[in-house]
Amino acid sequence: MKIFHIVGARPNFMKVAPVLNALRARQGVIQTLIHTGQHYDRNMSDVFFQQLDIPDPDVNLAVGSGTHARQTAEIMTRFEPLVIERKPDIVLVYGDVNSTVAATLVCAKLGIRVGHVEAGLRSFDRTMPEEINRLVTDQLADVLYTPSEDGDINLKREGVSPEKIFRVGNVMIDSLVKLLPAAQRQSMNGYPDRYALVTLHRPANVDEGATLKGLLQSLLEVNRDLSVVFPAHPRTRQRIADFGLNTEKLLLLDPLPYVDFLALQSRATVVITDSGGIQEETTYLGVPCLTLRENTERPVTISLGTNVLVGQDPDKLRAELSLVLSGNAKKGTIPPLWDGHAGERIAALLAG
Ligand code: UD1
Repeated sequence: MKIFHIVGARPNFMKVAPVLNALRARQGVIQTLIHTGQHYDRNMSDVFFQQLDIPDPDVNLAVGSGTHARQTAEIMTRFEPLVIERKPDIVLVYGDVNSTVAATLVCAKLGIRVGHVEAGLRSFDRTMPEEINRLVTDQLADVLYTPSEDGDINLKREGVSPEKIFRVGNVMIDSLVKLLPAAQRQSMNGYPDRYALVTLHRPANVDEGATLKGLLQSLLEVNRDLSVVFPAHPRTRQRIADFGLNTEKLLLLDPLPYVDFLALQSRATVVITDSGGIQEETTYLGVPCLTLRENTERPVTISLGTNVLVGQDPDKLRAELSLVLSGNAKKGTIPPLWDGHAGERIAALLAG
C-alpha cells in the first residue's frame, strides 16, 4: 500500500511523527513524506524533524509564504503532478493548515482517497482560516480520524457517514508522551523559576495595531507579578516591528524547538496562548492555560482540561491570573484516548 503524508506547517510535524513511526513497522506499506514548504525557517521546520525523528521529506514543494489563495493554489499546482505520477492508495493530511486543505482538494478531484488526521474539530467561527480548512477537508475526506467525541458529533451533524469516522485519540499527545522525559531533563538555566509562557500568532490577535498593543499591555501587566517568557512567531515579531510596539520588558525569544518548548510548558506557572495545540498540551500536562480567543475548536480542553477562554479582555485575564497566583487555578483531567497510542491505532486501521 502506497501512503502519502502531507505536512507543511509547524503543528503538522508533531502529528505526522507518531503515524509515520507506527506505519514503519507494518509490512507492505510504502510511505512518502511530502513537505509543502509552507513553513521554511529552520526553527519553524527542520529542527522539528530532527527532534521528532521524522525522516527527511522525500519531496519538498517549497511553496513558501503568500496570501491564502496564492499559498493554497501554489501547493495544489505543485502537488497535483506528484499524485498523478505516483498514484498513492491514500493520502494522509493533518490538522487544519493551508497545506491540509490544498492537498485534499487535489486528491478529491483525482479520485484519490484522503484520510484526515484530527478531523471533526470546529470553532464555529468562519473568520478563522483554519475553520474553513477544517470544514472543506472533512467534507471531502474518505476516512476521518477524530481525537475526541465532539469531533464525531460535529461530523455526523454535517452529514458525514458514521462508517467513515474513527475515534483514535490525539496524535499530538503521542509526540508529547514520547518526548516529555527528554524535556524534563533539559536545563532551565537562564529562565526565571516562575513564569508565564506566552505564544501569540493568530491574525485576529496580531494583525491589527490596536489589538496587538492592547494584548501586549496586558502582558506587561502580567509581567509585574510573573515573568513573561514569549517565544514569538515570525509573523508576530514582524507586526510588533511594523507597529513600533514596545516589548522591552518581556523576554521575547525566537520560536523554540519542540523539546525546548515542551520543557518550558511543563514547568510554567501558567500558559497564555492563542494556539490550538497548546490548549491540548497544557491539558495533558495539567498546567493552567488562559486562551486569548473567544472560542475554541477543542472544547474538551475546557470541559475536562485546564483551559479557560479569556478572549482579548484584560479584566478577564487579570481575574484568571489572580486565581492562578493564589493557587486556585482550574484543575483538569486527561481526556480519553489521549494516551500516546493514537498513531498506532491509525496504523492498525490502515494496515492492520
Ligand atoms: C499557520 C497555520 C496555523 C498554525 C500556524 C503555526 C494556516 C492557515 N495557518 O499559520 O493554523 O497555528 O501555522 O505556526 O495554515 N513565516 C516565516 N517563516 C516561516 C513561516 C512563516 O517568517 O517559516 C511568516 C511569514 O511572514 C508568513 C507568516 O509567517 O507570511 C504566516 O505564515 P503562514 O504559513 O501563512 O501562516 P501561520 O501564521 O504560520
